[in-house]
Amino acid sequence: MILLNPGPVTLSERVRRSLLNPDLCHREPEFFDLQDEIRTRLLAVHDLDPAKWTAVLLTGSGTAAVDSMIASLPHQQARVLVLENGVYGERIAQMCAQYRIAHETLKGAWLAAPDTGQVKQRLTRGGFTHLAVVHHETTTGRLTDIHALGRVCAAHGVQLLIDGVSSFGAEAIDFAGEDLATLTAVAATANKCLHGAPGLAFVITRRAALTQAVNRTYYLDLARLARSQDQRNTPFTPAVQACYALAEALREYQQQGGRAARFQRYAALAEQVRLGLKELGIDPVLPPQESSVVLRAYHLPRGISYPVLHDALKADGFVIYAGQGDLSRTLFRISTMGEITPDDIRRLLRSFRHLSQTEKQGVSR
Ligand SMILES: Cc1ncc(COP(=O)(O)O)c(C=O)c1O
Repeated sequence: MILLNPGPVTLSERVRRSLLNPDLCHREPEFFDLQDEIRTRLLAVHDLDPAKWTAVLLTGSGTAAVDSMIASLPHQQARVLVLENGVYGERIAQMCAQYRIAHETLKGAWLAAPDTGQVKQRLTRGGFTHLAVVHHETTTGRLTDIHALGRVCAAHGVQLLIDGVSSFGAEAIDFAGEDLATLTAVAATANKCLHGAPGLAFVITRRAALTQAVNRTYYLDLARLARSQDQRNTPFTPAVQACYALAEALREYQQQGGRAARFQRYAALAEQVRLGLKELGIDPVLPPQESSVVLRAYHLPRGISYPVLHDALKADGFVIYAGQGDLSRTLFRISTMGEITPDDIRRLLRSFRHLSQTEKQGVSR
C-alpha cells in the first residue's frame, strides 16, 4: 500500500529494516549513543549551533511535541497570540486554554492566507510576548509565510513558536536569518518529512529559552527532558525502535542531499500530481505558490464523493486523505511525503483516469 496521507509515511526499505535491530535497554550506553546521534542529526538539518540550539526528543506523535513546546516555553508572564487558520492552529489555542496560558487567537478563514497586517496590528497594540503559528497548515496544504511573520515578531521583540510538524525537513526555515531573529522553537515529528516511523517527536529550541521554561506538564516538561538528554539520560522509557528508525531515516536524509533535495523531490512529485489531475479537470484548492510541496488539497471531482474516491484508490493500492471539518464534503488531500516515486504517481493518475472514465460511462448510460 502506498501512503499518500500526511503521515505516517511509506518507509524506505532500509528504514523499515532498521526497526528489526536488536532489542535495546534504554539505560545502556548504546541507547544514549543512538539518542545523541539523533539529536545531533536533527540540529544538522538546519546546520544549527549546538551551543545555542538543542533538539529535545519526545516519545509520542507530533501533537506531543507541540504540546510540550506550548506547555513549557511561554514563561509565567507570557501572553501568546495564536494564529488560527485550520485544525492545528485551533489545537494550539486549545492547549493554551488548557494550561491557562494568557492568550488571544487571531482567527482566519481556513482557505484564506493569514493576514500579516492584522498580526502587526495586534502586536503593535502590545502586551504579547509570543506568537504561535502553524508553518504548514495541513488542513488545507497552506504554507504560512513564517519569514514575513518573523519580521513582524522581530520588530516587536515577540518570540515565535512554530508548529513545524508537517514542514520540518522539507520546507525552508531560515533559522540563521534576521527574519527569524526571535524564533524560539519549532515542534516537529519523525514520521512526516524526515521519513521515520511513528512514535517519536521533537522540539528544536533555543537553549536560552529553556532557562525560563515552566513545568505545566509532568510528562512533556521540555526543560526536564532537555536536561536529562544532555546528561545522556532519559526520564522515561522511549520508543526505542522508533529511535532506530529515525536515526536511519536521518542518515538516509543526509545521504540524499538534506533539506534542499527533499524539497525538490516533493516539489516535483506535487507538480506531477497537480498537472495530472488538471488533465482530468480536478483543480487544486490553493494555487501552488500558496501551497506547501508536502501536501496539496484538491476539489472532489463532480459527482464523486470522498468515500467512493477513497475506496476506489485504495483498491488500487493508494491511501489518500479526506478534508477535515466542513471541508470533508468538498475536498481531498494528497501528500507526497515518504518513499514515493514518480512511477507511483503515474500509477495513481492512471487510477484516477480509470475512475473518471467509469463515472462518465455510468452517467451516460
Ligand atoms: C501541522 C500539524 N500539526 C500537528 C499535527 C499532529 O500530529 P500527530 O497527528 O502526529 O499528533 C499534524 C498532523 O498531521 C500536523 O499536520
